[in-house]
Amino acid sequence: MITGGLGFIGSNLARRLVAAGVEVTLVDSLVPEYGGNMFNIAGIEDQVVVNISDIRDRYSMAYLVRDKDLLFNLAGQTSHMDAMADPYTDLEINCRAQLSILEACREANPEIKTIFASTRQLYGQPEYLPVDENHPLQPVDVNAINKLAGEQYHILYNNVYGIRTTVFRLTNTYGPRMRVKDARQTFLGVWIRCVTENVPFEVWGGTQLRDFTYVDDAVEAMVLAATCNASDGKIFNLGGDCSIDLRSLADLLTELSGSGRYEVREYPKERKAIEIGDYYADFSLAESSLGWTPSIPLAKGLKKTLSFYREFLPHYI
Ligand SMILES: NC(=O)c1ccc[n+]([C@@H]2O[C@H](COP(=O)([O-])OP(=O)(O)OC[C@H]3O[C@@H](n4cnc5c(N)ncnc54)[C@H](O)[C@@H]3O)[C@@H](O)[C@H]2O)c1
Repeated sequence: MITGGLGFIGSNLARRLVAAGVEVTLVDSLVPEYGGNMFNIAGIEDQVVVNISDIRDRYSMAYLVRDKDLLFNLAGQTSHMDAMADPYTDLEINCRAQLSILEACREANPEIKTIFASTRQLYGQPEYLPVDENHPLQPVDVNAINKLAGEQYHILYNNVYGIRTTVFRLTNTYGPRMRVKDARQTFLGVWIRCVTENVPFEVWGGTQLRDFTYVDDAVEAMVLAATCNASDGKIFNLGGDCSIDLRSLADLLTELSGSGRYEVREYPKERKAIEIGDYYADFSLAESSLGWTPSIPLAKGLKKTLSFYREFLPHYI
């Protein structure tokens, strides 16, 4: 079962699992502000069970987790700005609902294994680079605090109740089926939309370093964790093959696309207040424990993403 299964990462994971012959149930609320999209499962819609439910509904969740072997728990509110504007919805989805999903597992299916999608945002402004899993946790926004609670509930239920869990702290993840309508999922979505439509986009700041994981690599990490007991109770960073400043990323994107242009401007004030500065991950623990390494270099991943949106953009705007 994949919560958030009609979203960006969830639907790519669903494709990977269906190809491997796994029986897959997708649970998603399809709230328009989030990344869920029926087109994300075009071509596999007859090979998955889709249940339009909200993870905040604990009775639905209690029913749905009963007979599953694996739970990929990916449903989330992803926008940092929305979490600041409406902290209670973020709390309900990223924190409270996570607890009730785990309670449902404890009551109805303690044998299930869960994989939780957490975020690098909870490290806040890095004190050193690359950031490893032992870096202090100093969230700079409401979303990161709620995601931190969500992941820690998973670890607690692993340790106290033996409900096996692996947590991934994802960095910027990109690829086909990401949300490009606006910046709610990531700024890169808007950039990709703009270069595809050949209209200008804005780069805020521009010198900050980031790393990027191609979605197939993120999915592979989750599959590796799902099939290995050594990952139980562990937290892993994911990362990318390189770190890059945002201005260079914008140059690379426009060069690969052969279209689009950008302007550099100051961060808007409200965004600057929750900005983390430079970040890139040390993912050596995932390498040594899971045998995971990012396999798609940034330029190749961006090319694949651009070619997807050149073909399918109307389904995403
Ligand atoms: N994409 C990234 O760069 C990134 C980075 C860090 C963490 N993550 C985490 O990975 C997970 C997946 O993110 P994504 O990028 O695929 O985003 P996404 O928005 O495409 O996917 C999330 C899905 O969850 C669904 N959802 C949201 N609230 C729900 C609810 N209450 N009940 C049921 N479904 C609900 C949405 O409809 C959406 O389909 C999220 O938990 C996110 O916090 C993503």
